[in-house]
Amino acid sequence: MIFYSTTSPGFEDVAAEELKELGCKIKEERRGKGRVFFEAKIEDIPKLNCFSRCSERIVLLLGRFKVERFEDVYKAVKQIDFSFIKPEQSFAIRSNRVGEHDFTSMDIAREAGQAVIDRYKEDYGVRLRVNLDEPDVIIRCDLVDDDFVVGVDTTGDEALHKRNYRIYQHPAPLNPTIASSLIRLSGWSHEYSLLDPMCGSGTILIEAGLMARNIPICKFRKDFAFKKLFQFPEIEWEERDVELELYGIEKFRKHVEGAKKIAEYVGIPIKFIQGDARKLDEYFESVDYIITNPPYGLRIARKGIIEDLYSKFFESAAKILERKLVMITAEKKIAREYATKFFEIKEERSVMYGGLNCSVFVLE
Ligand SMILES: C[S@@+](CC[C@H](N)C(=O)[O-])C[C@H]1O[C@@H](n2cnc3c(N)ncnc32)[C@H](O)[C@@H]1O
Repeated sequence: MIFYSTTSPGFEDVAAEELKELGCKIKEERRGKGRVFFEAKIEDIPKLNCFSRCSERIVLLLGRFKVERFEDVYKAVKQIDFSFIKPEQSFAIRSNRVGEHDFTSMDIAREAGQAVIDRYKEDYGVRLRVNLDEPDVIIRCDLVDDDFVVGVDTTGDEALHKRNYRIYQHPAPLNPTIASSLIRLSGWSHEYSLLDPMCGSGTILIEAGLMARNIPICKFRKDFAFKKLFQFPEIEWEERDVELELYGIEKFRKHVEGAKKIAEYVGIPIKFIQGDARKLDEYFESVDYIITNPPYGLRIARKGIIEDLYSKFFESAAKILERKLVMITAEKKIAREYATKFFEIKEERSVMYGGLNCSVFVLE
């Protein structure tokens, strides 16, 4: 069967690598569009939802069509066999549209919904119920230019970044799928020490710990759309009992306390220090990896503060870093300027995060 995973734009190759490790055969990476198409078995659906840490959503492809005019939407959806929906189940169309069209995503949803109802009535003599708030089945209809992709969502309205472990809410937490992607990009593995010097509520360190110990998303999140679609046995996994050397530094005590609570809740040992990312050499002689999501001027702090923070952070990081530093920021110019003073920029990739054009820097 063909599936697609949705990712934050710019991380498609990282999600694809992870899907390959999970046994999937990659068909197409739509770079910059946040889509990876791949082949997998139906019975892989629980595993994909529970272990694809870099994917937002896993969708089973029902059809892919060229849509040039609005009428093509109805014709395309009407061709699909919806026998997997039970007559008593409700459904909803969720639609996304990117590109120049003289119709909206709402128009697509309405037209596609009608096509599902008509096709099901023709095949089974039953008019399916629409429930936009809590549907049993979610059909995704995405139109990117003329590429119309229809699929059944196995994840649900809540994407996989909803991990369900955030018992403390930081005002600007990092999306866990991006945290996982940064970890994979760094090449970190559990034999090495890892520091997030501006760790907030600790998402990067927590994701690193969960990854290293093979703890799936479903340990904390129980709700997945596939549970209403198929009857799969409960997923089983073996946690890896590996030693971890994870460190978090954070300026504010309340975030440190919050991060400690989350780490305890998920059962990952992390050493948190209330401290200053500009003085890393006062806390450490050496660390192997640094992965971080510092404040951006746009969201939290002012520009002058950002320049002072980034320059001093890089300077002190250079004194203790053994291997790689990975960082995501919207302050690309400032980051580039000061990173080059202390490191070699191995990669700068453009990604979209929180509606902002960000860069991920990989430094050595
Ligand atoms: C974007 S947030 C990180 C969010 C975090 N990744 C999470 O998921 O919760 C940046 C954090 O850097 C912290 N910070 C700012 N300046 C700092 C400094 N000089 N030293 C340490 N932490 C600092 C802020 O308090 C904030 O919590």
